[in-house]
Formats: sequence, structure tokens, C-alpha cells
Amino acid sequence: MSDTYDLVVIGSGPGGYIASIRAAQLGMKVACVERYATYGGTCLNVGCIPSKAMLESSERFAAASHDFAQHGVEIGSVGLNLERMLARKKEVVDASAAGVAYLFKKNKIDGFHGHATIKDVNTVSIAGDDGKTSELSTKRILIATGSKPIQLSGIALDKEYIVDSTGALEFQAVPEHLVVIGAGVIGLELGSVWARLGAKVTVVEYMHEIFGARMDEELMRTARKIFEKQGIEFVFKARVTGASVKDGKVTTTYEQDGKEHTIESDRLLVGVGRKPYTDKLGLENIGLETNKWGFIPVDAHYETAVKGVYAIGDVIPGPMLAHLAEHEGVACVERINGIAGHVNYDAIPDVVYTHPEIATVGKTETQLKEGGVAFKVGKFPFRANGRARALGDMDGFVKILAHEKTDRILGAHIIGPRAGDLIAELAVAVEFGASAEDIARSSHAHPTLAEAVKEAALAVDGRTLNL
Ligand code: FAD
Ligand code: NAI
Repeated sequence: MSDTYDLVVIGSGPGGYIASIRAAQLGMKVACVERYATYGGTCLNVGCIPSKAMLESSERFAAASHDFAQHGVEIGSVGLNLERMLARKKEVVDASAAGVAYLFKKNKIDGFHGHATIKDVNTVSIAGDDGKTSELSTKRILIATGSKPIQLSGIALDKEYIVDSTGALEFQAVPEHLVVIGAGVIGLELGSVWARLGAKVTVVEYMHEIFGARMDEELMRTARKIFEKQGIEFVFKARVTGASVKDGKVTTTYEQDGKEHTIESDRLLVGVGRKPYTDKLGLENIGLETNKWGFIPVDAHYETAVKGVYAIGDVIPGPMLAHLAEHEGVACVERINGIAGHVNYDAIPDVVYTHPEIATVGKTETQLKEGGVAFKVGKFPFRANGRARALGDMDGFVKILAHEKTDRILGAHIIGPRAGDLIAELAVAVEFGASAEDIARSSHAHPTLAEAVKEAALAVDGRTLNL
């Protein structure tokens, strides 16, 4: 048994590795245990980073194929080297995972590889791939074990024809026809990748609208119409009930309007959500119960029902986002150390990296109406923004919702070029309790896409200057 650690973190995803670093900065002796060969969790290895690498590459392919000519750039015929694209994605992932290993070393964090099981509140045992078991003694434990894809009953993943997001990042050839179950973030991001590379993409969704009908309605409607123009087909109000593979073709069965339908494709991507991952974690050894969906409940300090055992990230209730997991990790270890770290769940941005990007923060119009909050709406379209025109990327708008009386920004919803970067200003505004007037009176460089944010803030008071 090694010396006693102040904190053993289980899981090295964005929640676990960032919490480890912050804890080390605060003077704690930290160990982080990861069951996979590389650090970085879902996000770095099979999530955010590889999906964004493929989105970037496929967007460049689509731009070279369709958009360069209108800029006067003539390149002849465009070829796809998928092998190179996948290799580049791997390089990006490898560099990111190596970056975490470097950060562990820099911050004197002891990293261990193997499956961690909580033996008691002060002991974590590690089962290594080599069959050897070791134990870590610790004052506190932080569970950051993340999530894994939900599987649908009646659909067995075979990792070739029927895949989850991990498999859909690895297709070795562009499928002629890709069917996606679920018009959520994964379905639309990865559906976009393969549609841009030439696949016919059909998305079968249970709800009546994309994103589980949970986002700002105008945003969802606008996004769906743009995706349809890009060639993605949607089948709504359809519940998938099964899928089978025969002679290299997948047949997917779904119910719609009380009738059973089938659809044939070359590949099937199941993107119906993710669930918390607590397999063989040993929660029963410390009497820690999950809620009925499998999440680990925590208090405002991210402490579980068992004293000295904490949890953050995808494994606790709430949105499953990398930056939220990081934020919770920092707040958790700061509170352990007597610092008032906190997470403002109303100020967490949510970004979908399709083209155009979709980004939101705070409340939607529907939520405000349901809450009986009086609000004003300021909206500005990218077609009236000079930079968007220069980019040739004019679809979408910025929408700001501000309190009717105080003018405080309550929510912001953007669809358009670089929406994921533009939302940062509005997330800061929500965090600082800023008013639309504060944004409207701040100088925004010209010509930038950020001017559309300023104009939307001006629009809250009915005084846009460029529309
Ligand atoms: P994870 O990243 O899941 O890390 C948990 C780690 O714990 C894993 O490495 C796992 O192996 C390890 N582990 C589990 N159990 C044990 C054990 N018993 N012993 C040792 N190790 C263990 N979010 C965004 O914000 N932006 C995006 O663009 C984005 N894109 C995504 C794209 C895809 C395709 C997917 C699947 C997800 C995406 N997400 C994105 C979600 C994001 O990846 C997660 O919200 C985030 O990774 C959660 O971080 P975490 O630290 O809680 O858990
Ligand atoms: P999701 O919850 O976003 O979407 C799942 C969709 O599948 C829903 O619209 C749901 O109605 C539908 N569905 C469920 N069962 C169905 C059935 N039987 N038939 C038809 N449709 C069905 O989940 P998704 O896309 O799998 O993503 C999981 C999580 O990963 C997200 O919640 C998100 O937090 C995270 N993620 C974040 C990204 C980002 O921030 N850019 C990118 C990718 C994932």
C-alpha cells in the first residue's frame, strides 16, 4: 500500500483530470485512476475532440467541393482521402491525451491505469490489465467515471454495421446510406460529418422536432430547415423498435402513426442518449445508492450521501457536457479546500458544432413564459452583418432575452457562423448579471461576427443600427 493520498480521483475525463490538477494546485496529494490506456476520458478519446476533428475536416471537404468557386478559388475536382482524414483525427486525439499525461507530471499527480473499485471510504483498489491488483489509501474519493451510450433493447451493436458514436467516428468508407436513431447532438453532429462526405443520411427521431424538442423553438426550427437543405432527411414521431443485419444491409424497424415501418441502410448509428457509468465501481461496498436513472446524487458541495466521497461530471444528474464536468470538478475540490467555488447552472453554454453552429445559454422563451417571467426579445440576423457577408455565411441569427423591467439578460440563443465562440460573451453576461444595455454599450470590433451580438442587444430596446 502506498502513502495516503489526500484525494483519489476515479476517471480522467475532463471532470476528473481538471479536478486532479486544481486539487494539486491547492496543495493536495492526488492520484487519478483511469481504466483506459490513455487519459482524457470520453471527451478526448471518443467524444468532443475526435468529433470536432471530423467535423472540421468534413467541413473543409464540403467547402472545397461547393463553396470555393464562389470565392473565385478554382481547384478542379476535389478528392476524399478518408484514411488521411481518420489518421489526422487520431493525431489530434493522441496529442490531446498526451497533453493530459504531461499535465499530470507537471502537477505531480500520480496517474494509474486500471479499473478502480471503491473498497471502503479510504481505500480504492485497482485491477490492472496485467491481472495485478493494487490498492491506494486516501482521505477522500472523487468519482468522475462519466457516462456511456444508452443501448436500445432489440438492437445489438456489432461495431461494424450497427454502431454507437465511437463506431461512427471510425467508418473506414463513406456509407452510401446512413440511418441515425435520434436527432440529438450526436445524431446531428456525426450525421453532418457523413452527409458532407457524401452519404445519404436519414435521421429517425421519437419527438416531433430535433434536439428532443428541448431548445429554443425558433432555433430548432431554423436549424432543422437548414439541415434539410443540406440533404439530411428526418422522420419524426417515430419510435425505433429494432434493427437487424443481413447481407451487409441494416433493416431498422420503427413505429409511426400506429403502423410499423422499415428502412434499409448500409450503416446504423444509435444516438439515443448516454447513461451514467458506475459498473464495478464498488458503490455497494460503501452503501452509496444511485437514483433510479443510475446517477449518483450529490449535495451543493458535490459530496455524495457518504461523507468523504464526492462525484462530478456525467455521472451526476444534470447536463452531460465536458466544460460543465470541468467546472464541477474545480468547484468540488475548491470547496473541499474551503474556497467558495460554485457552478451557476444558468450560465453554462451549450453548443452544437454543426454548420451553422448552434449555441445557447440560460433560459428559452418557453421556459420564461412557463415561469411567468416578463421578458423582451432582441434579434439580429447574420445576413445584416458585414463579416458574415464577407465569409459568405449568412444563415441564422442572434437572439437575446432580457427581463422586461430590469433588462438583465436571462437567455441567449444563436444559430450562425462561430456561434460556439460568440456565446462566450453572453455566458459571461449571464454570469455577471449584465443587462442587454451593458452589451449594447460595449464596443465590438468591426467587422466581426460579434457585432451581431451587440446589434441583438440593441434590438432588445428596439434600436438596431444596421437593420
Ligand atoms: P468521461 O469523459 O466519460 O470520463 C470518465 C472516465 O472515467 C473514462 O475515461 C472512463 O474510462 C473512466 N472510468 C470509468 N469507470 C472507471 C473505473 N471504475 N476505474 C477507472 N476509470 C474509470 N461535450 C461537450 O461539452 N462538447 C462537445 O463537443 C462534446 N462532444 C461529444 C461528442 C461525442 C461523440 C460524445 C460521446 C460526447 C461528447 N460530449 C461533448 C460530452 C462529453 O464527452 C462528456 O460530457 C464529458 O466527457 C464528461 O466528462 P466526465 O469527466 O464526467 O466523464
Ligand atoms: P440526446 O439526448 O442529445 O438525443 C437523443 C435523441 O434520441 C433524443 O432526441 C430522443 O428523443 C431520441 N430517441 C431516444 N430513443 C429513441 C427511439 N427509440 N427512437 C427514436 N428516437 C429516439 O443524446 P445523444 O445525441 O446521444 O448525446 C448524448 C449526450 O452527449 C448529450 O446529452 C450531450 O450532453 C453529449 N454530447 C454533447 C455534444 C456537444 O456538446 N456538442 C456533442 C455530442 C454529445
